[in-house]
Amino acid sequence: MNSFRFLSKNIPFNEGESIAAALEAAGIRQFGRDAVGHEIRYFCGIGACQCCLVRIDGVIREACVTPARAGAHIELVGADHE
Ligand code: FES
Repeated sequence: MNSFRFLSKNIPFNEGESIAAALEAAGIRQFGRDAVGHEIRYFCGIGACQCCLVRIDGVIREACVTPARAGAHIELVGADHE
């Protein structure tokens, strides 16, 4: 099965699954906190609320509408501020 890295974990995913869906299937529903302390998580699932922003291979994107890709590195957006 394909996988990507979320922090120090390998997260498996099915073909066509979004980053957020794969994280949720792995039991990860909270993706850290943003610069002002708001929880980053899977919410609307359609790219509208911007609640699921993560850094994907260095670029900030919505986890809910970004397809999972084998070997991708996912980091918390707020990590620079912690
Ligand atoms: S969950 Fe709303 S933009 Fe991703």
